[in-house]
Amino acid sequence: DWTMAEFREAKIADIRAQVGQGRVICGLSGGVDSAVAAVLIHEAIGEQLTCVFVDHGLMRTGEAEQVVSLFRNHYNIPLVHVNAEPLFMNGLAGVTDPEAKRKFIGKTFIDVFEDEAKKIGGAEFLAQGTLYPDVIESVSFTGGPSVTIKSHHNVGGLPERMNMKLVEPLRELFKDEVRELGRELGLPDAFVGRHPFPGPGLAIRIPGEVTKERCDILRKADAIYLEEIRNAGLYDAIWQAFAVLLPVRSVGVMGDGRTYDSVLALRAVTSTDGMTAQAFQFPGDFLPRVATRIVNEVKGINRVTYDYTSKPPGTIEWE
Ligand code: XMP
Repeated sequence: DWTMAEFREAKIADIRAQVGQGRVICGLSGGVDSAVAAVLIHEAIGEQLTCVFVDHGLMRTGEAEQVVSLFRNHYNIPLVHVNAEPLFMNGLAGVTDPEAKRKFIGKTFIDVFEDEAKKIGGAEFLAQGTLYPDVIESVSFTGGPSVTIKSHHNVGGLPERMNMKLVEPLRELFKDEVRELGRELGLPDAFVGRHPFPGPGLAIRIPGEVTKERCDILRKADAIYLEEIRNAGLYDAIWQAFAVLLPVRSVGVMGDGRTYDSVLALRAVTSTDGMTAQAFQFPGDFLPRVATRIVNEVKGINRVTYDYTSKPPGTIEWE
């Protein structure tokens, strides 16, 4: 049995031994895992690390700004911030199949990342915040034959293409352990405690075609939902909570008028590792209150539903 302090020291020694005087590039996704990996690696090798944040425009409200400010201001870690929103939005036009979205986003992410890596002069090593569940889940599904449920978004393929070696210091850890390590490394509690967010971002929470307009609608609704969860003191009791903007319109009435707008699904689950999950049971009038706020405040949504499906047979994300 090791403590997180021991793990940190051991990993720092491992990273130094693996990397030597080499240069490392780390792709930040905006999430906790890649941020913890980057901070740990920075502690081990300092200036030999450069972080690249490919901003695909599919993040939640304020998220991209938080990552940039955390790295540049709080840690003073060199960070290249690439605004690739137009590139991603154009490429997603007309794409509705979930795996096609995931593959396009994964591939485009690698293309942009590779360009940036070349611009900064290349590196021998690529760092990733891969966790233990990522290692198993993208290979097979518990109890069954080897079937890909979802193509997970990471920079897979890039190391071979660019002839880089992987640095993956979190490979043995589960999510709760990564959070503990993040706290150990001094990352702010609010950042470390954030719910997981998938690499393909809001694109897989918008079944059907993804457009900037639909991303903006979803961002507003999602922000209201999360604000209410925080205000109710429920954020830390939930593994993950988010909204899904459905490609379905329903008829409603507002004031004297008829509306014909999109339906939103809310989801919240409890889980320990994301591999199984149960729908969170909100107390009393929480959901009706959120539904009312969203319909009143977000133009384009006139109906809100709640998803009670467990994993399995459902998955956490809808796509
Ligand atoms: P599912 O939807 O497969 O998700 O039940 C399990 C957990 O993984 C997250 N997830 C992803 N994380 N890249 C990621 O980094 C991805 O492509 C991806 N897809 C799903 C999901 O949010 C949940 O926490």
